[in-house]
Amino acid sequence: ANIVVLNGPNLNLLGTREPEHYGADTLADVHQRLDVIAKTASHQLDFFQSNAEHELINKIHAVQGKADFIIINPAAFTHTSVALRDALSAVKIPFIEVHISNIHARETFRHHSYLSDIAVGVICGLGTQGYELALAAAIKQLNS
Ligand code: DQA
Repeated sequence: ANIVVLNGPNLNLLGTREPEHYGADTLADVHQRLDVIAKTASHQLDFFQSNAEHELINKIHAVQGKADFIIINPAAFTHTSVALRDALSAVKIPFIEVHISNIHARETFRHHSYLSDIAVGVICGLGTQGYELALAAAIKQLNS
């Protein structure tokens, strides 16, 4: 199956950005680990990161009919973007929402997500391992 891994704004800075919240792994490190898991399970991964809301939305539109599952860390757009939510609803691709940090243990404005209630599931607070846990869950769903 085809699984798309989307990352939102500032996650290109992973590894150097606020390591107390996000750890030391870079996004390339994360992608490498995910690729190993996907290959072992004979699934294809498509990685996309953007700092621009419209680019994430265009990517979601572009994978309609092609992607079977989405893993998304919407980053700050989690807390602001009705448009991202509407894009995910429109394409009807099941998705898991991932946050590296525990958004519920941080500022109040991070406690609300515009995506969580339409997600298959949400993983937060487990560091970059959250992406691997999301991928394992996605593969289990796709194989069932
Ligand atoms: C984040 C949490 C968001 O609140 C924040 O804006 C991010 C990253 C996380 O992975 O913990 O950019 O999604």
